[in-house]
Parts: sequence; C-alpha cells; structure tokens
Amino acid sequence: MSSESSITKRLDGKVPLITGGASGLGECTTRLFVKHGAKVLIADIQDESGHSLCQELGTENVSYVHCDVTCESDVENAVNMVVSKYGKLDIMFNNAGIIGDNEVRVTDTSTENFKRVYDINGLGGFLGAKYAARVMVPAKKGCILFTSSLASKISYGNC
Ligand SMILES: NC(=O)c1ccc[n+]([C@@H]2O[C@H](COP(=O)([O-])OP(=O)(O)OC[C@H]3O[C@@H](n4cnc5c(N)ncnc54)[C@H](O)[C@@H]3O)[C@@H](O)[C@H]2O)c1
Repeated sequence: MSSESSITKRLDGKVPLITGGASGLGECTTRLFVKHGAKVLIADIQDESGHSLCQELGTENVSYVHCDVTCESDVENAVNMVVSKYGKLDIMFNNAGIIGDNEVRVTDTSTENFKRVYDINGLGGFLGAKYAARVMVPAKKGCILFTSSLASKISYGNC
C-alpha cells in the first residue's frame, strides 16, 4: 500500500475555497487538502500558476478562478462559483497576502504601500469572510480561516 493511499482522507467530500492558493502557503494547503480528498477552488491573481496547479493535481480535484481579493465583485463571484459548481462551501481560507515593500523605517514607508498591504491582507480577509458567511450561516455549517503572522504579535527590529 502506498503511503498516500494509507492516509486517512480527513477532508473527503469537503469543498474549500483558498485565496492566494496558487503559490506559497496557499499552494501547500491546496496540495494537502487535495491529498485529503477535498475539491478545492483556488482564487488568485496568478492565472498561469493557478491553471498549471489544476492540471498537475487534476481538474476534477482543483479549479481556478481569477480573483483579486481587494475587489468585492471578484470575491462574490468566487464564492458563487464554488457554490454553483459543488452546491456548498465548507471551508473559506482567507490566505492571500503580501508583505509589501517592508521598509526598515516607518518614515520611509510610502502611504501607497501601507494601503496596498492593508487592502489585500485586511480588506481581502473581510470580504472573504463576508461572502463565505452569506453561504455558511444559512447552511448552519462551515469554517472560515485566516492566515496571519507572528509579526502581528512580535515586534521585529525593522518595525
Ligand atoms: N511565508 C511565511 O513564512 C509567512 C509567515 C507568516 C505569514 N505569512 C503570510 O502568509 C500569507 C501568504 O504568504 P506566502 O509566503 O505564501 O506568500 P506568497 O507570495 O507565496 O503567496 C501569496 C499568494 O497570494 C496571492 N495574492 C497576492 N495578492 C493577491 C490579491 N490581491 N488577490 C488574490 N490573491 C493574491 C499571490 O498571487 C500568491 O499566490 C501572506 O499574508 C504572508 O504575509 C507568510
């Protein structure tokens, strides 16, 4: 028996939507969720990476939708897409995020950079939760997750 087939499929039949699922932590999560039997919808702005991950993991297991998490209609469309395709949304993983320019000094940090980070990391998570809850609350089930960072708890030398 291969090690893969001996894994208990803890997400068998579950339907997660993963923002920022085309690379990094989101890609790892996509792979793990599929390994555990989930049908994943990736919502990202990296169309090429998203589509190639679908091809690699099987289009019966993973789908992709272009979604900028700062754009309310994109987020609404991604949630609508997962529901129309699978009839439900079990897990909303608000993972899309950026570090931004990461200037050492606040005095050198541009306001545009701050707004961009806030829009993607903050507003993006809010919109994901809002549209997921519109599906999950009536269904009386579902799980909404957010990627955060130790940087929200610990002060680093460059903060
Ligand atoms: N990698 C780490 O060690 C680490 C540690 C703590 C927190 N984080 C946080 O985790 C999150 C993911 O980090 P990562 O290292 O996987 O980064 P990454 O850049 O590899 O992945 C982020 C993903 O989000 C997507 N994305 C960016 N802007 C988007 C937008 N507007 N709409 C939709 N998708 C968008 C990107 O295309 C990418 O696929 C970030 O918020 C990051 O700050 C990462």
